[in-house]
Amino acid sequence: MLKGFPPPTDPNVLVGFETNDDAAVYRLNEDHAIVSTVDFITPPVDDPVWFGRIAAANSLSDVYAMGGRPLTALSLVMFPARKLGLEILRGILQGGYEKVAEAGASLCGGHSVEDEEPKYGLAVTGLVNPRRILTNTGVRPGDVLILTKPIGTGVLFNANRSRKLPWSEIEPVLTEVAALNRLALEVALPFEISACTDVTGFGLLGHTQEMAVGSRIGIRLDFSALPIYPNALAMYRKGETTGSNAANRKLVQDRLRMSVKLSREQEELLFDPQTSGGLLLAVASDRAQRLVEALHAAGVKTARAIGEAYPTVRSEIHVV
Ligand code: CO
Ligand code: CO
Ligand code: CO
Repeated sequence: MLKGFPPPTDPNVLVGFETNDDAAVYRLNEDHAIVSTVDFITPPVDDPVWFGRIAAANSLSDVYAMGGRPLTALSLVMFPARKLGLEILRGILQGGYEKVAEAGASLCGGHSVEDEEPKYGLAVTGLVNPRRILTNTGVRPGDVLILTKPIGTGVLFNANRSRKLPWSEIEPVLTEVAALNRLALEVALPFEISACTDVTGFGLLGHTQEMAVGSRIGIRLDFSALPIYPNALAMYRKGETTGSNAANRKLVQDRLRMSVKLSREQEELLFDPQTSGGLLLAVASDRAQRLVEALHAAGVKTARAIGEAYPTVRSEIHVV
């Protein structure tokens, strides 16, 4: 979004906007840097409390994706108070409050404006050791890529809204959708992660591409290894999609090499925008298996090794 604007010149800005990273990082001294991020979304589901939980987990995730720990959060609220009533707003804030508390951070206020359609999210401030910042640019050839949550939330939310998928079919996955990426990060940190990002609006391939380009390497993804939410493929098969799939495909098509025959719905899944998606972690290959096992043991049950990085002249994604 800021392409064309001059990048920050303050030497203490350790992560600005040039690398499409998850959050800004500002060094205070040798041991401490501030992580700042902001995110807000339209309701992925009608239930106000789940909306609040998912939006808050989504906002907090960008601090975890940098290897940081959230300290304070401020809420951003856009809400049609006359149309929907304050009871619903109360539910959204309740869900958000729960997630901030679960993160061990403090909700300290926020700002709200009247708007046609509700939107909610958080501005989050966190802390990270400047020597242990995780960015999306550190992938090394040979690293294994690990994804900590399934993909497919975009099409599931749309299918629920268009009544192709009943609430009883989507509610069981919301606990995992709204899960904080805190646990996955805490388990992963001792394994000397070389790069990290969270998979969100640009879909699995969009965020994989940011890693590949930022790290100047190629990334091979094994389609059969991808964790996928139940019903996601079926919803694409039924003709459901999202407003982002076409744009997400366009974003990566120049760097995408496909060596596996996928059905149309399998392919769409690669471009499905995620809300509160999992972490995409790069780790040395000799530690990858142990990290996946440690994630499973800690309760991050759907974490999978999904590919590996290789040296290449021009960064690309190769789906096999
Ligand atoms: Co992010
Ligand atoms: Co974000
Ligand atoms: Co204000």
